[in-house]
Amino acid sequence: MKYNFPNKNGYFGKHGGKYVSEILINILNKLEKKYFFYRYKFNFINKYYKELKNFIGRPTSIYFAKRLTKFLKGAKIFFKREDLNHTGAHKINNVIGQAILAKIMNKKRIIAETGAGQHGLATSTICAKFGIKCTIYMGENDIKRQSENVKKMKLLGSKIISVKTGTKTLKDALNEAMKDWIKNVKNTFYIIGTIAGPHPYPMIVRDFQSIIGYESILQIFENKINIPKYIIASIGGGSNSIGIFYSYIKKNNIKLIGVEAAGKGLHTLLNSSSLNLGKLGVLHGNKTYLLQNKNYQILSTHSISAGLDYPGIGPEHSLLKDLNRIDYEFIINKEALKSFIIFCKIEGIIPALESCHAIAYAMKLAKNLSKNKIILVNLSGRGEKDINNINL
Ligand SMILES: Cc1ncc(COP(=O)(O)O)c(C=O)c1O
Repeated sequence: MKYNFPNKNGYFGKHGGKYVSEILINILNKLEKKYFFYRYKFNFINKYYKELKNFIGRPTSIYFAKRLTKFLKGAKIFFKREDLNHTGAHKINNVIGQAILAKIMNKKRIIAETGAGQHGLATSTICAKFGIKCTIYMGENDIKRQSENVKKMKLLGSKIISVKTGTKTLKDALNEAMKDWIKNVKNTFYIIGTIAGPHPYPMIVRDFQSIIGYESILQIFENKINIPKYIIASIGGGSNSIGIFYSYIKKNNIKLIGVEAAGKGLHTLLNSSSLNLGKLGVLHGNKTYLLQNKNYQILSTHSISAGLDYPGIGPEHSLLKDLNRIDYEFIINKEALKSFIIFCKIEGIIPALESCHAIAYAMKLAKNLSKNKIILVNLSGRGEKDINNINL
């Protein structure tokens, strides 16, 4: 399968593009130019990889979940342990790359949006390390449900702006961060945390996150693991999933499965399943599948996990859905919570609720597969941030 996206105008098929005000077009063009100039330069790559190794702790391991596999009596389940990264999730893989670009572009201030707090925490951490001023936008409701991460961001010196508009979640935080960016574009770098936003962001975030899948290929060979038949990841905006899938897109014999948050069910309005239920529209600077009503107004979303509670999806996933290359499945809150409890007890790992959507789907699938099949799941983050929301 031929696959080379985005095109030179920033489109993934009919998705993507740059739907922003004129004032931002210039800055996006500059960012694209800088990125294209530096991305294959030895010094840039060397700095990026050094930080991944020495500060973040990569490579993260590939881990055989022996007891979970035994419990399910089916396919062997392996996890790519992004929860082991410094700050506890995959988000930092992208932040470190964009922060290096911000330094190259001589930006004195960084802003970011966050839902689960993991992107905000990663950004705050790197800003503290690089000595750059940092402001994080976060919905008021997410501030309540992810309070542990808010405290950490404050400790790291970031200013947290509580967003009180809309559903007071990730979409609203992104809206406010974009307004800030427009006002302060001269001195401010906006680190977007997922593969959404106007071009070149979806491409840049994907490239930095693709370390996950790339590393997994090397580890599969090194550890003499059989090639996985299925690779599974949770889908919020789409960054951890594209990160693990990207190196496998052209390998048609491997099934790639993205798992959306179906909240209280696809038949209710209380879900975040933009690939299963969305229609084409424009949000946050790109054209993609969105949860909208018949008048094209963005719908409120719901998920137990703040990081998946978003009405849109990165444009590359919308293309991959059109191409039928990735299957987009869904898991409801209850199933994610059940897998959280089982996984903690059986594997001794506390997973993020976002990752539990992938775990829950893998558990359902594994039961029905033979023992010689292999499933690789991206364990996108750790769940300490979620434990106050779990009823035992
Ligand atoms: C641990 C974790 N996993 C997954 C996600 C979903 O985002 P994405 O789809 O961009 O990976 C988030 C978002 O905050 C997260 O914190």
